[in-house]
Amino acid sequence: MEEIKLPPTGNTLDPSANPLHPTPNSLPPAQKPKLLIVEDEEEIRTQMKWALMEEYEVLVAEDRAGAAEILKNEHPLVATLDLGLPPQPTEVEEGFRALGEMLSLEPLLKVIVITAHGERQHALHAISQGAYDFFVKPVRIDELKILLHRAFYLSHIEREYRDLKQRVLDESFDGMIGTSPEMEKIYASIRKVSTTDVPVLIVGESGTGKELVARAIHRRSLRKDGPFVVINCGAIPETLLESELFGHEKGAFTGAHIQRKGRIEAAQGGTLFLDEIGELTPPLQVKLLRFLQEQKIERVGGREEISVDARVLAASNRDLKKAAAEGSFREDLYYRIGVVVVSMPPLRDREGDIPLLATALLHKYASETKRSISGFTPQALLVLESHSWPGNVRELENKIKRAVIMAEGRKITPEDLELVSPYARYGGGKLKEAREALERDLITRVLKSKNGNLSQVAVDLGISRPTLYELMQKLGIVKE
Ligand SMILES: Nc1ncnc2c1ncn2[C@@H]1O[C@H](COP(=O)(O)OP(=O)(O)OP(=O)(O)O)[C@@H](O)[C@H]1O
Ligand SMILES: [Mg+2]
Repeated sequence: MEEIKLPPTGNTLDPSANPLHPTPNSLPPAQKPKLLIVEDEEEIRTQMKWALMEEYEVLVAEDRAGAAEILKNEHPLVATLDLGLPPQPTEVEEGFRALGEMLSLEPLLKVIVITAHGERQHALHAISQGAYDFFVKPVRIDELKILLHRAFYLSHIEREYRDLKQRVLDESFDGMIGTSPEMEKIYASIRKVSTTDVPVLIVGESGTGKELVARAIHRRSLRKDGPFVVINCGAIPETLLESELFGHEKGAFTGAHIQRKGRIEAAQGGTLFLDEIGELTPPLQVKLLRFLQEQKIERVGGREEISVDARVLAASNRDLKKAAAEGSFREDLYYRIGVVVVSMPPLRDREGDIPLLATALLHKYASETKRSISGFTPQALLVLESHSWPGNVRELENKIKRAVIMAEGRKITPEDLELVSPYARYGGGKLKEAREALERDLITRVLKSKNGNLSQVAVDLGISRPTLYELMQKLGIVKE
């Protein structure tokens, strides 16, 4: 077994680590992951460096200050730290100080603490202080290598996850994910209307995010500290809706044992969101119009006028303009409520947003259910993009939630999503043409998603690289 003895005897560890014979085909330093070794004894330091330099770009420091300097400039992912550092190499105080300092400089750094034999309590204390793992002297290089592999692997995953989270945040607008031009227009409208107090009508198919938009407008408005009150006009029985909206006095009707304030009053100082406003009955439309004109309401059975300062937002998946023209919705109310109309694009029209949303939702549900699912197969991405999504984002949420639960492998397949394959669109022609069209389509998409990296494309498609070349030639696909 390769071993660095302590105190060092000068034995070398690994033939490939001999300073006089560095491995000829070792990678150039820039492509290797960076490893920091903090060790005060020069001989051990050098031995570790030579043993590990084939795989890592090894940076060395002999004390706390040196370690901090390297962390600031080089940003290694993993470090080993000898707890006994100068000025008192037989104690551990300086080592713990270094550990704290290193982690505060680089919170995701994986620190492997190296302790002397019989200092288990120090090792455990180091772990409680945020060290990733510990290692007991004498250092056995092959064991240390295994530990280092795991540490680097974990570090990569953590960083990838952090970057992905950041990307989702960067690319989301108040919880709305999407970077398509259609959604950028929606964000711009939200920015504009949120600084005013005008009513806004949000229209669009079911599940396109109308309520999210209403919440975003409220959150960005001067009323953000006031209440945001939602009432779904389509979900409450007609007979109850009036008192739900306007409140009632004691004894106003059978069962009205006490006075009750309505939802409009509850929105005092804030925002009232009337969902499915198209479902309001004509008498309630009149009453609502009066509130919009005068900012005053009367409770059911009451005589007193009550002033309410609430901004009104409304949503509908019916075409209210048409309903107004046809007479099923009051035209004057339509013009009041629809001073500004925000029209949500259906998901199928949002160029590029489907994979973005799908990936964000996948990671959300996978982490909620603690399932290790890493993405979609190329075929699944293809079906996601070609489905017409009548239920829009809500439908996508449901499909992915299900797929995360049902998936057997690490990648979600079209079957997990229960989506019909879009290959049907190649039907009608000859089988050979259909097959080629499909192959061309799939290869082109995967090529794009892998930025033209042919090895990765071949892996994703489950074919060898030569087969991929052959197919690309046959189908006339040129790598951009
Ligand atoms: N751009 C988006 N990014 C992330 N999640 C979204 C987006 N749009 C909608 N959602 C999610 O989809 C679901 C449906 O959104 P929402 O309830 O706002 O739609 P809606 O238009 O009000 O639907 P309905 O007409 O059925 O009431 C919610 O869970 C919401 O969080
Ligand atoms: Mg809604």
